[in-house]
Amino acid sequence: MVHRIYPPILKWTLFIALCTLSDCYDPLDPNGNITVTFDIYQRTDNGYLARVTLQNYYLYRHIDKPGWKLGWTWANNEVIWSMSGAIATHGGNCSSYSGSERPHSCKKDPIIVDLSPDDSQNRSEHCCRGGLLSASSIDPSNAFSSFELEVRNLGDNPLGQAPNNLTLMAPGPGYTCSPFLETNPSVSLDFGGLRQVPVLRTWKSACVYSSFVANTLPVCCVSLSSFYNPSITSCRNCSCGCREADENAASCIRCTLTTQICVIYSKTATVECTDHMCPVRVHWHFKNNYMNQWRVKLTISNYNYNKNYSNWNVLVQHPGFTQNATTYSFNSAKLPTLGLQDGVSLFWGIDYYNSELLHSDENRVGLVTTEILLDKDPNSFTVSNGWAFPRRIYFNSENCEMPLPDTFPMLPNGSSSLGPTHCAFSLSFILFFLALLLL
Ligand SMILES: *[C@@H]1O[C@H](CO)[C@@H](O)[C@H](O)[C@H]1NC(C)=O
Ligand SMILES: *[C@@H]1O[C@H](CO)[C@@H](O)[C@H](O)[C@H]1NC(C)=O
Ligand SMILES: *[C@@H]1O[C@H](CO)[C@@H](O)[C@H](O)[C@H]1NC(C)=O
Ligand SMILES: *[C@@H]1O[C@H](CO)[C@@H](O)[C@H](O)[C@H]1NC(C)=O
Ligand SMILES: *[C@@H]1O[C@H](CO)[C@@H](O)[C@H](O)[C@H]1NC(C)=O
Ligand SMILES: *[C@@H]1O[C@H](CO)[C@@H](O)[C@H](O)[C@H]1NC(C)=O
Ligand SMILES: *[C@@H]1O[C@H](CO)[C@@H](O)[C@H](O)[C@H]1NC(C)=O
Repeated sequence: MVHRIYPPILKWTLFIALCTLSDCYDPLDPNGNITVTFDIYQRTDNGYLARVTLQNYYLYRHIDKPGWKLGWTWANNEVIWSMSGAIATHGGNCSSYSGSERPHSCKKDPIIVDLSPDDSQNRSEHCCRGGLLSASSIDPSNAFSSFELEVRNLGDNPLGQAPNNLTLMAPGPGYTCSPFLETNPSVSLDFGGLRQVPVLRTWKSACVYSSFVANTLPVCCVSLSSFYNPSITSCRNCSCGCREADENAASCIRCTLTTQICVIYSKTATVECTDHMCPVRVHWHFKNNYMNQWRVKLTISNYNYNKNYSNWNVLVQHPGFTQNATTYSFNSAKLPTLGLQDGVSLFWGIDYYNSELLHSDENRVGLVTTEILLDKDPNSFTVSNGWAFPRRIYFNSENCEMPLPDTFPMLPNGSSSLGPTHCAFSLSFILFFLALLLL
């Protein structure tokens, strides 16, 4: 019995210890987690009724298609008699139930998946989002989901024992869940919100993501350019893996710029052949320097021929974001900076306009873009030393590989500061010529 209870706790402790050593939580969202709450709200003759809620507390990490999968191992021989708002993927061995009514799942370690929003049967309150959960700072009303189940065959304990070994695929690996711990019972509202009723018993677990556990290649890189230098700082070579030297290698999709014809040598290749080999590139162009403001063009390109990123988001850390900013073609929000000197802004697409980042193909480069107009703080703004370029960028909460600072776009020789006077000068120059033309 003892060895059954302790290993997950030990594993969790070890994981936390590892996390403090190897940066596996996100410093810009240190409290982010997906909390799984198991509320037993009613006893039945043979067991209990429970409601399980997944709440995404991550500020900008969402659960994308094909959606979450939640698993656990029952402590005894419990069975899921019925379920609404979700289904168990396997019925298990229910041969000991010979009656006309059979349990929904007799599996010792059931895996539960969400129903689609179109399912009309077996719904429950706050259910059926097709396994998708929004990031909490973007769409809090779609950041949680619930399902209900009736559990029977509890054994000796009338209110059951918490399931062990909670697992969350959301949708891929990378999440580690703490053991279920008993907490103060959740309170549900009754009589149209007039009466608060605590449930009978509540267990909670927090699942946290780590790219170290997910063990995936980077998905994104950053390139830079500026109005004062025609050369572009591309993504670092091999940011997301290296391409094979062999022209006929099947590891990526080769496109010729002139004919726009792409050759797909293999079904497994999904990413266009580039020096960086990233599925996604974020480009930051420092476009204008005005007297009191400056302008940036932000472009996100999809090189993954196999994926449309719906509900994408991009986070940028930059000292300029402590000032007011206007974003023209994306939604945006300032996030808490947690003691950083810099500002942190989150950008995401506008529904029905650019909330889906389509993949490239023969006919189009899949991209979304916006301009951002920022107020200047005269005490900190500078065009020199690469100040105008971002400190950190995340795409869908994955860290994007930055170019090395010594490759940032350089100021042209001899101009140590390229101030707005330069712009004012060219403007008056143009006005002068216009005046000449009109005369
Ligand atoms: C999970 O996130 C919530 C909200 O940020 C926070 O209150 C809670 O402490 C977190 N739990 C864990 C175990 O980190
Ligand atoms: C769905 O509902 C029907 C009728 O309401 C019920 O017979 C069936 O067992 C339910 N399915 C599950 C998975 O609980
Ligand atoms: C199902 O469980 C019963 C005992 O409850 C066992 O006799 C039978 O072999 C099991 N069937 C399978 C396919 O595992
Ligand atoms: C926990 O789950 C993992 C993976 O599903 C499995 O390998 C392991 O045996 C389980 N541990 C217990 C105690 O059930
Ligand atoms: C990146 O690779 C290209 C060819 O694929 C090469 O021309 C270029 O010099 C490389 N850049 C660096 C910084 O190594
Ligand atoms: C991406 O979206 C486009 C346009 O809606 C569609 O034609 C394509 O099949 C989608 N690709 C994938 C992999 O879903
Ligand atoms: C941002 O703009 C608002 C309203 O336009 C103004 O009240 C506020 O002081 C500005 N903040 C900064 C830091 O400039």
